[in-house]
Amino acid sequence: MLDIDALRPFLNTTLESTDFKNLGQKYTGKVRDVYIQSKKCHPELDEGRRILIATDRQSAFDRLWCTIPLKGQVLTQISAWWFEKVKDIMPTHILAVPDPNVMVVKDLHMIPIEIVVRGYLTGSTKTSAWVNYEKGIRNFCGNPLPDGMVKNQPFDAPIITPTTKSEDDELIDPTQIIERGLATKQQWEEITEKAFALFAHGQQIAAKHGLILVDTKYEMGLDEHGILTLADEVHTPDSSRYWIQDTTDSLDKEFFRLWLKEQGFEYGKPPPKVTDEIRLELAQKYIDLFERITGKTFVLPPPTDPTARIKKNLAKWQVS
Ligand SMILES: Nc1ncnc2c1ncn2[C@@H]1O[C@H](COP(=O)(O)OP(=O)(O)OP(=O)(O)O)[C@@H](O)[C@H]1O
Ligand SMILES: [Mg+2]
Repeated sequence: MLDIDALRPFLNTTLESTDFKNLGQKYTGKVRDVYIQSKKCHPELDEGRRILIATDRQSAFDRLWCTIPLKGQVLTQISAWWFEKVKDIMPTHILAVPDPNVMVVKDLHMIPIEIVVRGYLTGSTKTSAWVNYEKGIRNFCGNPLPDGMVKNQPFDAPIITPTTKSEDDELIDPTQIIERGLATKQQWEEITEKAFALFAHGQQIAAKHGLILVDTKYEMGLDEHGILTLADEVHTPDSSRYWIQDTTDSLDKEFFRLWLKEQGFEYGKPPPKVTDEIRLELAQKYIDLFERITGKTFVLPPPTDPTARIKKNLAKWQVS
């Protein structure tokens, strides 16, 4: 595993935000800077596309906290690796990965639902399975749960617990999804079938690498022909929980959430201060996950601001 001290020089060269010209209309997500090149604004393009630039911003509990050294790069590489692995299950939005921090993707008509698939009763956020189970909820997004389960216990079979894609993610069950017109019944059936297939494949591959894919979140959208397509990111430590087999040591964002709770984090209270040590530990975990899952050694880039490199690598994706 990469030594923490090797990561120290990167504390001051993190990518916090970008401001590129001629890349399209900018939308700032919590973690990614998105440049939209829609077909409507750019009829000269074969198809509408988006440039997804993963910054090093770290979000948790619906707010931003800090940057994590090399996070954008590590997450993009994990996601790109997985998109390649799952492309036989369903079409993906990937057009190109021109830089370690960047994916060029098809601009899809997004289904406004976060498709959360869970293998285990766990979690620490207000929409997580364990927090709701502990409150006494026994029907979780349409999934009946028996009494007497304990934290981190596997479900008999994975369950889907969707949330709406909005400012404040809200749990929703399939009946409401259809009633509110967020997806048709037929679309929702296809979405769940694909989500279970993606998750089963993800769990199998993770297991071969000594890891447990505990849960994850997918986003899907329709392409210009109406074909359901996998979007956003896939099986990253931001969108998923990973445990090291035979333990519940996690190599994902949950580690950071639990640390924040230990520091006294509560909604509505002044936030705890994030230390450099925890930023480094999280960076190390993300890199550890990259190496375990891909079987590749993570090659450290030079400890400099990646902006100039990204700009150069995106030159051919510019629009006027
Ligand atoms: N192929 C795609 N077509 C259209 N939109 C996409 C596509 N892939 C991803 N997106 C959207 O791009 C945005 C990516 O930004 P990001 O995930 O950083 O922000 P966010 O979703 O607003 O915040 P957070 O994920 O932290 O809640 C998301 O809104 C996601 O739904
Ligand atoms: Mg997102």
